[in-house]
Amino acid sequence: MGAVEIEDVRDDLTTILYQPTQIERRVRELAAEIDRDYDGQDLLIVGVLNGAVMAVADLTRAMTIDCEMQWVAFSSYGDGTTSSGVLRILKDLNVDLTGRHVLIVEDIIDTGLTLSYLVQNLRHRGPASLEVLTVFRKPAARQGQVAVKYVGFDIEDEFVVGYGLDYAGRYRNLNGLGVLSPAVYRRS
Ligand code: PRP
Repeated sequence: MGAVEIEDVRDDLTTILYQPTQIERRVRELAAEIDRDYDGQDLLIVGVLNGAVMAVADLTRAMTIDCEMQWVAFSSYGDGTTSSGVLRILKDLNVDLTGRHVLIVEDIIDTGLTLSYLVQNLRHRGPASLEVLTVFRKPAARQGQVAVKYVGFDIEDEFVVGYGLDYAGRYRNLNGLGVLSPAVYRRS
């Protein structure tokens, strides 16, 4: 399957953190856990655009149970490498959550701001259960108030790109995860 190979952008990265095969393996493990945990239940996956597109696509295709997918979008970070701290809902869900088993899927939890806002917001809509999966998690989020049930990889506090994570719209379809070289964001 096509994607930008991590070796093709090697010069833009200081480090390759995860090769595509490592991510694939971990996503398959998480999918197997979800299959077990939600067996026989009505599962609604809520993906957080844009970064979680890859995670939701890979996860749901590795799962064997049926689920519904919905998407939310926030505007927060713009093109920079750090959070502006301002969240705005750009796209909300268009289903009723009452009595549903909801699993939020994120590509990364960094400060935890997006997630705590989303969890609080969805909790008020009466789901039967509300859990969180993230592929990557940074250190600040490990101390966060929101419990994350499924974590792919705990990573350090570095600016990472690939597997859905972008810098200024680039690198999202990079098939692994790497640390972006400061030279790249200094020159733009
Ligand atoms: C990223 C990521 C999470 C959020 C995590 O999204 O996809 O949604 O930041 O950061 P936090 O824990 O500090 O809130 P971003 O706002 O960059 O949008 P994108 O997914 O469209 O790139």
